Amino acid sequence: MKKLMLALFAIGAVISGSVFAELDNPGGTGGLDSLRGETLLEDTRPADAFKDFPKEHAVDSSYVYQPPLIPHAIRNYEVSLNANKCLACHSWKNAKEMGATKISVTHYVNREDAVLADMSPRRYFCLQCHVPQTEAAPLVGNDFERVQSLK
Ligand code: HEC
Ligand code: HEC
Repeated sequence: MKKLMLALFAIGAVISGSVFAELDNPGGTGGLDSLRGETLLEDTRPADAFKDFPKEHAVDSSYVYQPPLIPHAIRNYEVSLNANKCLACHSWKNAKEMGATKISVTHYVNREDAVLADMSPRRYFCLQCHVPQTEAAPLVGNDFERVQSLK
């Protein structure tokens, strides 16, 4: 019994110790700059403003097989279990009438390399690969360069 009490006491001391440690360290960025900028840990930073999406095709591909950037706004376009707004214009059935580029044959190939009669489920969530083009500074600096043949 005495041992148990001692053990409980020890655990209690460790837990309350860590609580005090937290109180002694009220946050701050500790001199580190993260993607949240200089916002303190305990603060919520205001969200960035929405970006403008230029309508002209402004950004060219940087490498072969790059998913083309989306040259139009996509706000409120639903892509969910029930609906895929993108396909309302980009499916082979609708593309001509809507004046949109139809999804390419690669979007019909499944992971066993079989060409399906309809779009492959692995291509359903368009925004996994395609993003709207916009002038956005990279979140983290890098020295990526366009592939030589497309320069
Ligand atoms: C109302 C019809 C419409 C809808 C809905 C639509 N698009 Fe488009 N999209 C177009 C048209 C038209 C173009 C081509 C011309 C343009 O806008 O410059 C295009 C162009 C594109 C391109 C560029 C193709 C290329 O070859 O460069 C991509 C990628 C694209 N859309 C993806 C999407 C995705 C992803 C969605 C859903 C989030 C979507 N679109 C929804 C009409 C639509
Ligand atoms: C797994 C990544 C991926 C997903 C998901 C995906 N795409 Fe693509 N898409 C690509 C790549 C890569 C290309 C360029 C190479 C090619 O044509 O296959 C492309 C090309 C395109 C093009 C241009 C075709 C052309 O002939 O120039 C359109 C339009 C397009 N995708 C629309 C869509 C739409 C709409 C969806 C959702 C229904 C979608 N994509 C889902 C990767 C993807």
